[in-house]
Amino acid sequence: MIIKNKFPKGFWWGSATSGPQSEGRFNKIHDNVFDYWFDREPEIFFNKVGPNIASNFYNSYKEDLNMLKEIGLNSFRTSIQWTRLIKDFETGEPDEDGIRFYDEVIDECIKNNIIPVMNLHHFDLPVELYDKYGGWESKHVVELFKKFAGTAFRLFGDRVKYWATFNEPIVVVEGQYLYKFHYPQIVDGKKAVQVLFNLNLASAKAIEEYRRQDLDGKIGIILNLTPSYPRDPENKEDVEASKFADNFFNNSFLNPAVKGEFPKELVEILEKDKVLWEATEKEMEIIKNNTIDFLGVNYYQPRRAKMREIPFNNEEGWMPDKYFENYEMPGRRMNPYRGWEIYPECMYDISINIKENYNNIPWFISENGMGVEGEERYVNEEGIIEDDYRIEFFKEHLEYLYEGIKEGSNCFGFHSWTPIDCWSWCNAYKNRYGFISLDLETQKKTIKKSGKWICEVSKNNGF
Ligand code: BG6
Repeated sequence: MIIKNKFPKGFWWGSATSGPQSEGRFNKIHDNVFDYWFDREPEIFFNKVGPNIASNFYNSYKEDLNMLKEIGLNSFRTSIQWTRLIKDFETGEPDEDGIRFYDEVIDECIKNNIIPVMNLHHFDLPVELYDKYGGWESKHVVELFKKFAGTAFRLFGDRVKYWATFNEPIVVVEGQYLYKFHYPQIVDGKKAVQVLFNLNLASAKAIEEYRRQDLDGKIGIILNLTPSYPRDPENKEDVEASKFADNFFNNSFLNPAVKGEFPKELVEILEKDKVLWEATEKEMEIIKNNTIDFLGVNYYQPRRAKMREIPFNNEEGWMPDKYFENYEMPGRRMNPYRGWEIYPECMYDISINIKENYNNIPWFISENGMGVEGEERYVNEEGIIEDDYRIEFFKEHLEYLYEGIKEGSNCFGFHSWTPIDCWSWCNAYKNRYGFISLDLETQKKTIKKSGKWICEVSKNNGF
C-alpha cells in the first residue's frame, strides 16, 4: 500500500472527550452548571436526555479504554471534573472516590500505551460557585480554580505528562454571557469581557502553579480556532470586520496563551467603548510570565465575516457584534445536522498562522469531527455503521494539515472528536461523532467503519 501522507514520527493519533460528556453523574458530589440546568429544564436538552448516564465511562472506563486501544489510538484527552475531584472548593481538598476514579483512568491509559492528556475545565463550572460568587465573573473563583488545578497536579502529575488548563474558554464567554447557549444565558457584553479576562488569568495562574510544583511534563490550553475570512478581501470594511472577529473570538485567548499579551487593537476598542476588563498590573504580569508549552486547536468551522449592514443597536448594550456581521457565503459546504460549514482548507491556514505568527509553537489538533444525526441509517448486516462520510471528512482535513506540516508547522498530533459517541450539552445525543457507536438503551458500544479506518491510519502513521 502506498502511504501518500506520512506524518512525523511519534505523531499522536487520538481522540478527545470530556468528563461531563462521558462519565455520567455517578457518585459525583457536586453539580456543575449543566447538571443543574438539566435538573431544572430538561426540555432544553434534545429528547430530554441529560448528563446523568452519558456514555457510562465512570463504570466502563476499562472496557472503553480497551476499545480505544483496539482502534489504534495512542493518546486520549478527557477532563477531570472539578465537581468530582474536589470535595471542598475553598481549600481544594479532594474527594476520595474522585481520586480513586481518576487514578484508575490514568493508570489504565498508561497500561494500554495510551498517552493521557488531562484537561481541567470543559464548560463545567460548579454551580455553587456561580450562585455564591458569579462564577467566572469573580477573581475569587479564579483563585479557587488554581487550588483545584494544584490538587490535580499534585495527585496525578507524576503520571500525566500533558495537561490543559481549559477547553474552549471563549465558548464560556459566548455561551454564558453573549449568545445564550449555556446556563445561565445572560446577555451582557461588559461582563463577557471581564469573564474573558478572568479565564485568561485563571489559565495563567494554573500554569504558574504547575511550574511551582516543578513537575516533569507540559501544560497547554485547548482553543477552538474559527479563523475569520472577510466576505470580500478587497473591501476594507469587510476586512476590518473580519479582523475584529478574529481578535475577539480567537486572538483574545491565543495571544495571551502564547505571547503573554492581549491583541493591542482589541484592547483599544474595548477601552474606547468603556467595556475593558478590570485588571491589576500584577495580574498582567502573571499572564505575561505564564505562557503555554503547547497548544491544542479544536477546529470545526471557519467564520465568514462582513461589515455591519444592519446598524448596531447601542441601546441594548455592548456586544462584539457591534463590529461585524456573520456572512452566509453562497455555495458554502455545510454539515446540515450541526449547521456548521465544512472547510478543510482552514487546517492549512491554521498551521501556517501558528508557524508564522505564534513562534511555531508545538501544537496539535485537539478536536476535529463531524456530528451526524440518525447514523443508524448506515448500519450494515453485521451491525456496523458505515460512516464513509466521516472517513472522507477526516481525510480531507488531514490532507490540508499535512500540507501545513510539510511547510514546517510544528504539529505533533491529531485528535478527533470523539472516541465513543458521547453526550453533548444541549444537543445531547442528537449528533454522533464517535469512531465507536453507542446504543443509548443498552449502552452497547460497537466500532464503526471509521474506527477500523483510524486503526490503519495510526498503524501506518498516515494514509
Ligand atoms: C467542541 C467541544 O466545541 O465541540 C465539545 O469541546 C463538543 O464539548 C464538540 O461536544 C462538538 O460540538 P457539539 O455542540 O455538536 O457537541
